[in-house]
Amino acid sequence: MICVVLGLQFGDEGKGKVTDFLSDRFDVVVRFNGGGNAGHTVVDEGKTYKFHLLPSGSLRASTVVLGNGMVIDPAALIKEMEGVENLTTRTRVVISKMAHVVTPIHKTLDSKEEQLRGRLSIGTTAQGIGPTYEDKYARTGIRMMDLLDRDIIRDKIETIYRMKEKLLEDTIYSSAAEREKVVEELYQTGRKLGAFLEYSEDLIYNEYRKGSSIIFEGAQGTMLDIDFGMYPYVTSSNALSGALSLGAGFPFRKVNTVMGVVKAYVSRVGAGPFPTELTGAAADHLRDLGHEYGTTTGRPRRVGWLDLPMLKYAIRLNDVDTIALTKLDTLGQMNEINVCTAYYRDGKPLDHIPRTLSESSGLDLRFRSFEPWGKIEPDNDGIMNYEDLPESARNYVEFIEKELGVKVGLISMGESRKSTIDRMKH
Ligand code: IMP
Repeated sequence: MICVVLGLQFGDEGKGKVTDFLSDRFDVVVRFNGGGNAGHTVVDEGKTYKFHLLPSGSLRASTVVLGNGMVIDPAALIKEMEGVENLTTRTRVVISKMAHVVTPIHKTLDSKEEQLRGRLSIGTTAQGIGPTYEDKYARTGIRMMDLLDRDIIRDKIETIYRMKEKLLEDTIYSSAAEREKVVEELYQTGRKLGAFLEYSEDLIYNEYRKGSSIIFEGAQGTMLDIDFGMYPYVTSSNALSGALSLGAGFPFRKVNTVMGVVKAYVSRVGAGPFPTELTGAAADHLRDLGHEYGTTTGRPRRVGWLDLPMLKYAIRLNDVDTIALTKLDTLGQMNEINVCTAYYRDGKPLDHIPRTLSESSGLDLRFRSFEPWGKIEPDNDGIMNYEDLPESARNYVEFIEKELGVKVGLISMGESRKSTIDRMKH
């Protein structure tokens, strides 16, 4: 079985929990985009892990791959690997030699670029993601395999500095000694990570030929995709299912199942259009109920109602087979529950979803309301059946399925693995 799990909204849909839940059915788990901007919370035997670079399935899969499409802060990765007891003795960790390296200089550039954008600032996670992808496409980037050679690191750091001197001249990196410190620190990370570096596309393909089951784990979400999201309020990588072909070197045609993760409402961190956004007391209530604060930055997330037109677009782009619906328990506790079913402008339905701030202003959104279902209490073992859900919660799920034409295969109602309803078994 070859599966891809990815977010259909603005990230933070709960992909970490879903991938972790599924990961004991898979031998290999692969990440193919983004870097430390992602934040995946996984709860295992009462212990909470916050992964930024490691795939969420790392606790249970036997092989874990960080694909070439990722941008990796090697020092942060070492810390994350050390935070999981016995990770490398019980799990084969493979890092693509071709993944690009995020350095402290890229993080500084991220903040500098944000300042310069002014009104167009994105609200990035300041993890150096954009500037690292800029260097990748400018062909000045440092790749993971470069970390094994101090001279190559130095050459590339100096080139990056010369090309970005104007932005960096009033930072510590204008000092050659500080840049040399970065070179040395990167080289030391290379010494630690060297044993994990491989051409990971070969490993993935060999596992496929052996018949291993593989799960590809997307980071961020469809509406943050650099091409199909709400540009410029997007991340710097492609976040669609098809991006795994480029970000992991595995042919998308061989994928059997595309699972789209959908939060029962919508959240977004950072700036940009958000047609169904809530404000005031209702937003505060939902944010608190769902603990909607960024895993990477701690920022309060913007929240709003489920947006079906947006989901239809995401389902089409990703060719979604099954939906994993998360946080149904959170939404049920709101005093009122609405779902956006259509966008209208000047009395006419829109045939596309708004992609820019100007396209999303002056919209007339149509909503359908649902009876709140209150708190959902799983039985003592945390296990629930779909039939035991309150009727109005089931109405909500079945309405979504009917409108989207896609089955809701998993329903997640809390952080622990046990609070998950698996409807794919039937
Ligand atoms: P960047 O990826 O750090 O450059 O940030 C670009 C935009 O994507 C900002 O609005 C971020 O808040 C958002 N973003 C990036 N990664 C994630 C994520 O994993 N979850 C939610 N939002 C994200």
